[in-house]
Amino acid sequence: MDATLSPPSTITPSSPASATEAQASAAGRTLTFITGSSRGLGEALARECLQAGHQVIGIARGRSDALEAFARQHGHALQQWQADLSEPLVIARHVGDWLRTQPGDWSAVNLVNNAGVIPTPGPVEATSLETLSGALRVGLEATLLISAAFLDATLAWPADRRILNISSGLGRRAMAGSAVYCAAKAGMDNLSRAMALDEEVKAGQGRPFARVVSLAPGIIDTDMQATIRGGSAEQFPDRDRFVAFKTEGQLASAEDTARKVLSYLSRKDFGQQVLADVRDA
Ligand SMILES: NC(=O)c1ccc[n+]([C@@H]2O[C@H](COP(=O)([O-])OP(=O)(O)OC[C@H]3O[C@@H](n4cnc5c(N)ncnc54)[C@H](OP(=O)(O)O)[C@@H]3O)[C@@H](O)[C@H]2O)c1
Repeated sequence: MDATLSPPSTITPSSPASATEAQASAAGRTLTFITGSSRGLGEALARECLQAGHQVIGIARGRSDALEAFARQHGHALQQWQADLSEPLVIARHVGDWLRTQPGDWSAVNLVNNAGVIPTPGPVEATSLETLSGALRVGLEATLLISAAFLDATLAWPADRRILNISSGLGRRAMAGSAVYCAAKAGMDNLSRAMALDEEVKAGQGRPFARVVSLAPGIIDTDMQATIRGGSAEQFPDRDRFVAFKTEGQLASAEDTARKVLSYLSRKDFGQQVLADVRDA
């Protein structure tokens, strides 16, 4: 048996969730999954979605106590599932299994594939094989598997179903020192385009369909930028440019970006343009 196909389940749902879950399920009829919700853009987006009345399920290895406190304080519906997206089969199956236990009467269901990993910049051979594998799995394989599980489990739901993949300008152009990240984002972009075509086929057949967008969010002041700036100039020719983004105040805050991303997710014409950039919106 292939051991990688049956890792032990490591998904830990947050215990306080059920207390607020019922309230929000009555208050708002939008369910939103957000991967990478423990910090950075994902955490800020989870907060924005909660404020907008969504029931939010965040997925990350860690959890955000601040987000939990915010949800409790305002009676918002939040679950934080702790799972490692570098083992994406486990969490993808869990998402599908969990959705199949739901009544399916949401008016809208969203999946935001936001989690991403950029290893310390350098050529591929300077990074361990485990790190390269993990970065690709979190950035691309998890996006594919969770999207597939989401679409399958909600296939017959009448809900407005949307998948928003958080991409990057580096999916659309290459940069030295970040090959695995560029590969994951380019894969995410073309995955999104191909999935959107499949949904178009369903729409043409009069069947329920989902909308898919791969959105570049701009440059944001998060841990990921700190990792990029931490690269050595010798192995990462663009290092000074990234340092300047920070020192010259060019990085957007996670909160501002999250507001723009939620606004994009809520657009009536969401999905008409599959590859998008929040800065053009
Ligand atoms: N920051 C930027 O300038 C920028 C620019 C363009 C695109 N983006 C994209 O925007 C998205 C969010 O980036 P960010 O800047 O907010 O990144 P970040 O601050 O590094 O946060 C990454 C998130 O992904 C989660 N994650 C990483 N590895 C994981 C794993 N193995 N399993 C589960 N979750 C994992 C982290 O949670 P845990 O560590 O708790 O697991 C964290 O919540 C990413 O897709 C990124 O590529 C960012």
